[in-house]
Amino acid sequence: MARKIIIDTDPGQDDAVAILLALASPELELLGITCVAGNVPLELTAKNARIVCELAGRPETRVFAGCDRPLRRKLVTAEHVHGKTGLDGIALSDPTMKLQDQHAVDFLIETLRAEPAGTVTLCPIAPLTNIATAFERAPDIIPRIQEIVLMGGAYFEVGNITPTAEFNIYVDPEAAKIVFGAGVPLTVMPLDVTHKALTTRARVEAFRALPGRVGPAVASWTDFFERFDKEKYGSDGAPLHDPCTIAYLLQPELFSGREINVEIETVSDLTLGMSVADWWRVTDRPANARFIGDVDAEGFFALLLDRIARL
Ligand code: BDR
Ligand code: CA
Repeated sequence: MARKIIIDTDPGQDDAVAILLALASPELELLGITCVAGNVPLELTAKNARIVCELAGRPETRVFAGCDRPLRRKLVTAEHVHGKTGLDGIALSDPTMKLQDQHAVDFLIETLRAEPAGTVTLCPIAPLTNIATAFERAPDIIPRIQEIVLMGGAYFEVGNITPTAEFNIYVDPEAAKIVFGAGVPLTVMPLDVTHKALTTRARVEAFRALPGRVGPAVASWTDFFERFDKEKYGSDGAPLHDPCTIAYLLQPELFSGREINVEIETVSDLTLGMSVADWWRVTDRPANARFIGDVDAEGFFALLLDRIARL
């Protein structure tokens, strides 16, 4: 039986690749896509998610719009990385599929109550506002979640939006604190691992060479967003962050990490949104996350190429 998942997202080119990977994988049943404000404002993330579903030939996928701003802070966006639309790199038509009427948070609550307990996995690849709002409004859903596999945070790589914070956590640290403290089995894909999944030239050209529209679209997206990271890090390509979560569900053996304590900084101006990961286990704080540190990057891109080729 396919594993039931919900992707919570702010597309974003790397979010788009994560959605494509899920849609291309028969091991996963995508119950819905919940959108949130993040890389770009909500209106655009909700539009981009539908563009991606249509590109994949899956217009029946249910897409929900959720929270348009963080719990307590002003929204910070990342057009400097993802472009004005959030999906810059290739011109794609506006979606014709409809956005669902239901609010994303209501969908999360209703679905987790309706599905058998322990059978739905959440994959947040964006600021955690929708998930935290659902937890606050309906705490009864928390023990019903099978697992959360999220992209966010960093320890060895420290930060990408500030010197000490990763974007998804920084945008809504209060939401992240709620999610990391909820007691749900939690797997975290921090920058420490995503910075090892680089879009090298050979990998991008392999996508571009695929027949059909999807592979070339993935190549155009990575061409666009990698300019920023290559310049910043001097690396051979950009980190393909968000698809790491879906790849982990498909082939967990590609990844390795540690069960550790991770706390979120919500007070300090200087280190706001820092994920304080006790990688070396120097405190007595109990483990609350499986914090991933390494990936077999060749295996990851081979999986991605194989699945994107099916669309
Ligand atoms: C995360 O921030 C976003 O810009 C990406 O989509 C990813 O989810 C990386 O820090
Ligand atoms: Ca994202």
